[in-house]
Amino acid sequence: MANCEGVCEIMTLKAIKYSNGKLELLDQLLLPSETKYISITGVEDGWHAIHKMQVRGAPAIAIVGCLSLAIELQKEGYNSKKSLRQEVEGKLNYLVSARPTAVNMKIAADELISLVNSLDRDESINVDVMKLRFIQAIENMLDKDVADNHAIGEYGSQAILNGIKSDKTVRVLTHCNTGSLATASYGTALGVIRSLHSYGKLERVYCTETRPYNQGARLTAYELVQEKIPATLLCDSMVAALMKRQNISAVVVGADRVAANGDTANKIGTYQIAVVAKHHSVPFFVAAPLTSIDFNIPSGENIVIEERPAHEMTHIGECRIAAPGITCWNPAFDVTPAELITAIITEKGIVRPAEIEKLKDFTRRSSIS
Ligand code: MRU
Repeated sequence: MANCEGVCEIMTLKAIKYSNGKLELLDQLLLPSETKYISITGVEDGWHAIHKMQVRGAPAIAIVGCLSLAIELQKEGYNSKKSLRQEVEGKLNYLVSARPTAVNMKIAADELISLVNSLDRDESINVDVMKLRFIQAIENMLDKDVADNHAIGEYGSQAILNGIKSDKTVRVLTHCNTGSLATASYGTALGVIRSLHSYGKLERVYCTETRPYNQGARLTAYELVQEKIPATLLCDSMVAALMKRQNISAVVVGADRVAANGDTANKIGTYQIAVVAKHHSVPFFVAAPLTSIDFNIPSGENIVIEERPAHEMTHIGECRIAAPGITCWNPAFDVTPAELITAIITEKGIVRPAEIEKLKDFTRRSSIS
C-alpha cells in the first residue's frame, strides 16, 4: 500500500496483460491505493513477483509463472531440442519454489515438463517448432482458466440455490480474494458469487478483511465495489457474530491445495470459518479448479504451510500497528479438515470430499495441450 490513507481508484480490472510477447501485471501490493502495472521480462521477474505477492492466488501464480517462461523463451534462440528441454525443466522447477503451498504451479510445471519431453521425442519437428508449440501450450492456460472459472461459477451457484428451500435470494460469506485478481479472470469462489449475482439471486456477499495481508479488504472489496455487487466488509473476528445474526445461506472459499482425502489448504482463517459454519449448520463450499487438487498427498498433514515475514503483521503498508519488539507467528494458510467441507465445486462438477477420487480420471488427462 502506498500510504495509510489510500484512495480507492476504480478502473477496469485486468490483473494479467499478455500480448505480443509482453507480460504486465497489476501490482497487487499497491491496490487499492494505486493502479500500476509492472513489466515481467522473464523467469527471474516472474519468480520475484510471485514471491513478493505482487501477483497472488493459486491459479494466477501458475499462469504468471508459466507466462514468464514463455516470455523468456521468445527472446532466446536454441540450437538443439535437448538444450531447450533442459532449460525449460530447470526454469519450471525454479518457479515452483517461489511459494510452497499452492499446488497449481507444481501441477502446471509437471504437465509442461511432460509436454517438452514428448516434443523432444517427436522426430517430425525441429527446435523452432518445438518452441512454438510449447509457448502456445502456455498461452492456452489463460483461456482455459477463464472457461473453468465460468463452469465453477455455474455449478457453484446452482449448488447454493439448490440448498435453499424457497425461491429466495441468498447471503454468502467469502474469505480472502479468489476473483479476477487471483485467476486469469472471473474467479473461483468469487466466480460463484458473480454467477449468483448475474441470476439476481445474491442478496449480499460478506467478505472478510483477511488479516494480515488484507486480501479481502484491499482486493475482494475492490472487485465487488467495481462491479456494484452488494457487499459488506467485516473483520475476521466478526464471523461467528455474523452467522448468529445474519442468516447466512452458505460460505464459499477458494483453495490453494486440496489433498486426496479432501482436506483443503486455503488462506489463514479459513479453518476457523469452517468450524463456525458447522456450529451454525451453514453449508461450507470450496471452489477449486482441478489444478488445485493434489492426488499425490493423502491428507492435509502433508501440505507445507508457507510462513510469511512478521512485517506483514506488524505493519499496514509502512504504518507500524504492533508494539515494537513483539514476536510474530505468520502462517499464510491453514488446513480445513474434509469433514467440515460440504462439497468441492470444480469445473467438472461438484463432489463431496469423500468422493473426490471420482475426479481423478479428469486430472489424468493433461490440462495443458
Ligand atoms: O496468499 P494468497 O493471497 O496467494 O492466498 C490466496 C488464497 O488463499 C486463495 O483463496 C486461493 O489461492 C484460491 S484463489 C482462486
